Amino acid sequence: MIKSIMQFTFAAALALTTIIAQPAAAANVGAKTCQECHRAEYDVWKGTAHFKAYRGAHKHKNAKAIAAASGTGKSMRKNKTCMTCHYTVIGSKAKAGPSCESCHGGASKWVKTHNDLGAGVKSSADESAAHKKSRLAAAQKAGMIHSSMVYDIAENCNACHTMQKIDPAMAGKLIDAGHPINGSYELVKYSQGQVRHRFYPPNITKNQKMNKAELSRMFLTGHAAGLVYATKVLKSADNAKYKAAMEQRVADAKKAIGAAKGSVPAAGALLSSPTESNARKFVAALQGKDLSGAVGGMLPSKYK
Ligand code: HEC
Ligand code: HEC
Ligand code: HEC
Ligand code: HEC
Repeated sequence: MIKSIMQFTFAAALALTTIIAQPAAAANVGAKTCQECHRAEYDVWKGTAHFKAYRGAHKHKNAKAIAAASGTGKSMRKNKTCMTCHYTVIGSKAKAGPSCESCHGGASKWVKTHNDLGAGVKSSADESAAHKKSRLAAAQKAGMIHSSMVYDIAENCNACHTMQKIDPAMAGKLIDAGHPINGSYELVKYSQGQVRHRFYPPNITKNQKMNKAELSRMFLTGHAAGLVYATKVLKSADNAKYKAAMEQRVADAKKAIGAAKGSVPAAGALLSSPTESNARKFVAALQGKDLSGAVGGMLPSKYK
């Protein structure tokens, strides 16, 4: 107990110094802090490629050539370009692979408040809906990406998985040096395997699978975010492999969103003008709907 308090204080102090140095951005506190209260999620993370990346990625046969091509440093774990996606950076050092805060947002400004269930409330099952809403809104304002922010989640995975976090010219250099780029990247396939952690009340000890309706909404949400970014990057990318991958991404997204057009009118506006604002409207219109009839057949075979 004392050890974990000390760890927490240390992490918080570290985060504070980073805040002073960079007042704008929230800093990472590290997965160990999250583990104190989210053991089940931490254990899932330890089984993922994200966790293993810290020990493995720099030893990959292409790592040196890719790092050299970036022009920003030979050592992958110290290279600023690689750090953007491959590591959880604390202070200015790579401390782990992509971890909790890579997906939920740097937590220095929300970790102490996102769990405030209200005076006297001990379990999230006893929290009122209104309190939960205002708690999560406050956390979101402080930089948290929580589970109901489905478009932001999709966009955030995309940012690393289709290289949105770096400019297209740099992406082209890495790809030519052997960096993978997957034009068929798809959110259901990537999120429902090793990465999935859904220990929601009332059954907080069970990692719950999504049902067909949830999978179909997630499938469309991933494609909406994919369409917006891939369309944008195609206007400026000139690397042939990157362009081919992004063209594939646009084609897959159009097919999926097109299939939902009959049930969700906002699909039409998104297809004719793939802006972030139209994508968010489309994703908002999906909520509560069961689109498995329209897109269920397109889900990865494991989830059909
Ligand atoms: C001191 C305990 C504690 C710590 C430390 C902690 N959490 Fe939480 N967290 C909670 C509680 C309590 C809740 C609310 C109940 C729930 O949803 O399980 C919560 C909720 C969450 C949620 C769900 C919100 C939603 O509905 O989407 C996420 C995501 C989350 N925490 C991420 C993190 C991350 C990432 C860290 C580390 C940076 C962290 N937490 C650290 C206690 C903690
Ligand atoms: C924009 C985000 C991003 C940047 C920047 C980035 N990577 Fe990656 N990298 C990824 C993703 C995502 C994967 C995994 C792709 C997949 O498996 O779908 C990956 C995979 C790799 C792999 C293959 C690892 C394996 O286990 O298969 C190597 C090697 C690699 N990256 C090296 C680098 C190096 C070196 C740099 C810095 C010069 C770098 N990457 C920068 C996102 C990025
Ligand atoms: C690859 C991205 C990613 C990483 C890494 C990640 N999460 Fe999540 N997390 C998500 C997504 C996506 C959801 C929403 C899942 C859903 O509702 O289907 C989520 C949901 C949650 C929830 C709410 C559901 C539940 O299990 O109670 C908590 C709490 C949470 N994450 C904590 C963590 C912690 C702690 C870590 C690190 C040990 C972590 N997450 C790492 C993406 C991630
Ligand atoms: C900060 C950047 C980043 C974010 C955000 C991110 N990832 Fe990753 N992801 C990576 C990197 C880097 C790898 C490659 C690790 C390696 O093999 O070295 C990877 C690997 C994976 C893999 C393993 C792929 C394989 O071929 O084995 C899956 C699955 C995955 N990510 C899913 C997701 C999902 C789903 C999300 C969002 C909920 C997400 N990731 C968010 C960077 C990221």
